[in-house]
Amino acid sequence: MSEGISNKVVVITGASSGLGEAAARLLAAEGATVVLGARRADRLQTLAWELGGKAIAVETDVTDRAQVKALVDKAVQGFGRLDVMLNNAGVMPQSRIEQLKVDEWDQMIDVNIKGVLYGIAAALPVMKAQKAGHFINVSSVAGHKVGPGSSVYAATKFAVRALSEGLRQEVKPYNIRTTVISPGAVVTELPNTITDPVAAERVQKLYAEVGIAPSSFARAVAFAISQPEDVDINEILFRPTRQEY
Ligand SMILES: NC(=O)c1ccc[n+]([C@@H]2O[C@H](COP(=O)([O-])OP(=O)(O)OC[C@H]3O[C@@H](n4cnc5c(N)ncnc54)[C@H](OP(=O)(O)O)[C@@H]3O)[C@@H](O)[C@H]2O)c1
Repeated sequence: MSEGISNKVVVITGASSGLGEAAARLLAAEGATVVLGARRADRLQTLAWELGGKAIAVETDVTDRAQVKALVDKAVQGFGRLDVMLNNAGVMPQSRIEQLKVDEWDQMIDVNIKGVLYGIAAALPVMKAQKAGHFINVSSVAGHKVGPGSSVYAATKFAVRALSEGLRQEVKPYNIRTTVISPGAVVTELPNTITDPVAAERVQKLYAEVGIAPSSFARAVAFAISQPEDVDINEILFRPTRQEY
């Protein structure tokens, strides 16, 4: 694996907005080739077009294992290898458990946990064969702290940390790095997935008061990738300076 960011092949799930889009922009500007996955193909195509020859768009639903494999296969077929798998796609329809929004629990489990696992399942055989690679999985401050209304979302983000730490230990023989990034409040489209008006108002207020730009996340990704190959940044937790919780 080459060191730094330039010329690395990076697959990004959830690249159609927010954190994934910001990471794609920064990494492409730093010379990486980015393979963009999400469901909104129009947004992905526009971004890929803006980034020029350094990007391709692949319509992907991360809840479908075959589609995630096709995304990774496209990167390997197109560019010969896969250096970084950024498992970023996520949803956050927060609500209190007693509201029994069971369909939304299912959706969070499918996207936030199974989507990450499908990303690992697709990328790991490639990285093992290369004897090189880097997983970056997106958790959250909610993967460290639970509050009322965030129980199920937090559970999915705790899960991302647990499986990332197990993965980290298991892939040592293959020279694979594993990073978990846990952002605080970053202004993106994430609150749009909240259907409970009380939770939506709480999160919108937090974003309005303290939220920071998605470029904060992109720089954390770039920091992890740009370390020398023998340095594995395992966890990054960052918040807006003004965020208390
Ligand atoms: N913003 C924050 O404050 C914050 C804090 C901590 C953690 N996070 C985490 O950061 C990650 C990115 O979120 P964001 O803040 O950037 O929100 P966002 O702007 O809503 O972006 C979410 C991304 O996930 C994609 N996605 C959702 N469901 C998908 C599916 N089934 N298949 C493929 N892609 C899917 C969306 O694309 P499509 O709709 O086009 O599929 C979109 O690109 C999430 O894992 C989130 O939990 C965010």
